[in-house]
Amino acid sequence: MGRFYITTPIFYVNGDPHLGTAYAVILADAIARWHRLLGEEVLFVTGTDEHGLKIAQSAARHGVTPQEWVDRTATEFQRAWDSLDVSYDDFVRTTQPRHHETVQAFLGGIYERGDIYLGTYEGLYCVRCEAYYQPDELEDGTRCPVHHVACEHMHEENYFFRLSRYQEPLLAYYAGHPDAIVPETRRNEVLRFIEGGLSDISITRTSIDWGVRVPWDPRHVFYVWYDALINYLTVLDYGRDPERMAAWWPSVHHLLGKDILRFHAVWWPAMCMAAGIDPPRRLIVTGWLLNEGEKMSKSLANQIDPLAVARTLGPDALRHYLVRSSAIGPDWDVSLEALVMLYNAELANGLGNLVARIVALILQRAEATAPSAPPEPPAPLELVQALEEARVGWERWRPNDAIDAAIGLVHRLNAYLEATEPWRLPRSSPEVRAVLGAAREGARIAALLLSPAVPRGAERALQALGFANAGPLAWTPDQPSTRLERSDPIYPRADFELLREGLA
Ligand code: MSP
Repeated sequence: MGRFYITTPIFYVNGDPHLGTAYAVILADAIARWHRLLGEEVLFVTGTDEHGLKIAQSAARHGVTPQEWVDRTATEFQRAWDSLDVSYDDFVRTTQPRHHETVQAFLGGIYERGDIYLGTYEGLYCVRCEAYYQPDELEDGTRCPVHHVACEHMHEENYFFRLSRYQEPLLAYYAGHPDAIVPETRRNEVLRFIEGGLSDISITRTSIDWGVRVPWDPRHVFYVWYDALINYLTVLDYGRDPERMAAWWPSVHHLLGKDILRFHAVWWPAMCMAAGIDPPRRLIVTGWLLNEGEKMSKSLANQIDPLAVARTLGPDALRHYLVRSSAIGPDWDVSLEALVMLYNAELANGLGNLVARIVALILQRAEATAPSAPPEPPAPLELVQALEEARVGWERWRPNDAIDAAIGLVHRLNAYLEATEPWRLPRSSPEVRAVLGAAREGARIAALLLSPAVPRGAERALQALGFANAGPLAWTPDQPSTRLERSDPIYPRADFELLREGLA
């Protein structure tokens, strides 16, 4: 089986995790979990982006050193992701020595090859984006289009990367790899941008020193973005372990938001080419979570606090909502009300209720021993179709469709119980055992299909149904089983009004 390497953007530590950043990490986690289910070897990495002016300013505002500040906030990110059941294999921090070494090796290599030179830069800079803008990209020629705040005029001696050399190579790369950027609208946007011509880019700063030192000229530090992008190589021990690089880099998938597309689809692949490695194999570009039409962020007061939701309803409620509500690509509006409705309909009344019913019936009518399933799934379950739809959904970056297929199976299992009425069949008869065995095996597969989104509830469902282990992602009649016992509901129903008061 293959390898699958997936990354999230590394998060700025100038604030707390919020719903927008939780969306990125939960989607990546769900994708990673799906690939683990397929039996692939998976490397899933997230982390924190800890250098740059913005972070230095946040530290100063809180009266601590930048290092103290980033240690504190990076720990908060890790705790937050842990509490949302994010199963990262590695957590990269850009202040780690391994990262500094990687950045210096990678950019040092490009310098030696001749694609980095000294020049002067002048322009309008948004501190919050850590990016220069062209006047025509700004609101009224002065204000940042994302943060709506005035940009600062900056003038400095910088090292430049010869991005202009890479227009043709990038176009050729994307022509040869039509699926390198999904969804297609984002790919087209990138192609138009590259076709418009590329200028060299400034990649170092002398105005601050909170960053990775330029190895050949220590007056400079690398501009935070060119340090940050290289995190994707840090965890592969680039420059230190060529075998590890060769094993994982070809399967890399970067998940990112549309606001950081150019960095990932133009700057980063060009730098990879300049360093002599392949451009990233795939960019998966998400839209924004909106609240009343505005991008959710920590600076706009429009929060649903992801951690408060997870504390109150459990992480699955939040995860299910984020994974299930939209395909990857478009922007979509979030609301607490929609989250609670979906939780009640699909988790409490859906998976939770199904499992509770099957367990109760096995306790009453099959003497608490889990019956084995018939050799083939009953036709009305449309089980093979559900498996196929789920596979196609994940493959096409439509996790919402994949989860929809699993929920469809849950509904058909409930309908199957209604139709077969096992509560009317004679206790412990072969008929009742066949029906309950089929329902139990179907529920195992539904739980597995839901597990990328709701790992905690899926695990509890398998335990409650007496499965000693998760088993394969296919109808498997002879699963080892344990004796069933009565258990608490997996997903207690939620009351929206009570919840809103609890979260207020
Ligand atoms: N540090 C850079 C990324 C460097 S990657 C080499 C950064 N950090 S961020 O914390 O500002 O954003 C991280 C990710 O969160 C981005 O992909 C961004 O799109 C995503 N989101 C932040 N708010 C969001 C929404 N409201 N909706 C969806 N995703 C958004 O950029």
